Amino acid sequence: MTTHSIALIPGDGVGRDVTKAAWQALQAVAKAHGFALRGDWFPWSCAAYKETGAMMPADGIETLRRYDAILLGAVGWPAAVPDAVSLHGLLLPIRKAFVQYANVRPHRLLPGVQGPLRREGFDILCIRENTEGEYSGAGGRVHQGGDDEVAVETSVFTRKGVERILRYGFEQARKRRGKLASVTKSNAQKYSMVFWDDITQRLAAEYPDVEVTSYHIDAMAARMVMAPETLDVVVASNLFGDILTDLGAAIQGGLGYAASANINPDRTAPSMFEPVHGSAPDIAHLGVANPIAAMWSGAMMLEHLGEAEAARALLAAIERTTASGIGAVPGKDRTEAITAAVLAAL
Ligand code: NAD
Ligand code: IPM
Ligand code: MN
Repeated sequence: MTTHSIALIPGDGVGRDVTKAAWQALQAVAKAHGFALRGDWFPWSCAAYKETGAMMPADGIETLRRYDAILLGAVGWPAAVPDAVSLHGLLLPIRKAFVQYANVRPHRLLPGVQGPLRREGFDILCIRENTEGEYSGAGGRVHQGGDDEVAVETSVFTRKGVERILRYGFEQARKRRGKLASVTKSNAQKYSMVFWDDITQRLAAEYPDVEVTSYHIDAMAARMVMAPETLDVVVASNLFGDILTDLGAAIQGGLGYAASANINPDRTAPSMFEPVHGSAPDIAHLGVANPIAAMWSGAMMLEHLGEAEAARALLAAIERTTASGIGAVPGKDRTEAITAAVLAAL
């Protein structure tokens, strides 16, 4: 029997509840499809930071490297640890160290879920650059605290980095409806974003079957609200993709529905699967976090591990659950009730 080894990092706040729920669903689907998932739990979190002074041990990356995939809940508890410390101590280093350069986030309405827009029928796949750009971490502060203080944070766009994420976008478009929207702000940012547009143009020649359109980020934000059904694959830089995917989550009914995969397409290191949302301190401990985003991320993990049939079965169970009305209205059902319904649907 095939066994996939999974590193589980529930993290903080609702990350714990939704990871537990997703793991239950994953175990059930694995059993039904004749393979095993072996999970090791890592308590790396802001709570651990308060005890040990680190978000993960010094050899954390090397530990994770031994797994086939990582399932993560959410990282961040700003009341205890500054976000810039916790996220740069755990989530962001994993994405970079394991070259998970493609952050893949699907946005569509699950059956029975009513988004805030009075339109249906959109099915968007956002591809966000995940290792460089505006979140490269290059910068510094000088004369800290003084009147002459200066803060500099430099976006880093490399030819290798931009080319590979655009190519990934073209490939996904080719597998879907053949449309790629490339998002920049090249009217105002005349170096990095024009560079991105140039590479888009050049690659377009290699993909004559893909219809590629460049949009400015501001116009894309409006389009995702006004005409989301005109979009297929959307590819964007780290910051723009981060913002657009919370917008995508909103139009699909809320952050409790938005799944995501941090993919290393070359498979030189494990990929990581996590919902788009964070630790939701405002609802943590209430037992009302929607586990669907985490479960759907789990289905993306199965797909990546080569268990396509099981991935489809899990997604179908999620869809039957929301179609029945359970988990279809944000805030209505408790985490446990939604989890039980998905398990029953499986
Ligand atoms: P958030 O995503 O945690 O919450 C935003 C809103 O969405 C809140 O009102 C919350 O209640 C709601 N929400 C989130 N997940 C939900 C779910 N599963 N079900 C129902 N409602 C849900 O964003 P935030 O408040 O800006 O961030 C909180 C913390 O999480 C911060 O520390 C932030 O840095 C961190 N964060 C981590 C990740 C990650 O680990 N990938 C992602 C985003 C934010
Ligand atoms: C996300 C999150 C993270 C990001 C934060 C927590 C650093 O917002 O996964 O979308 O911006 O990548
Ligand atoms: Mn985000």
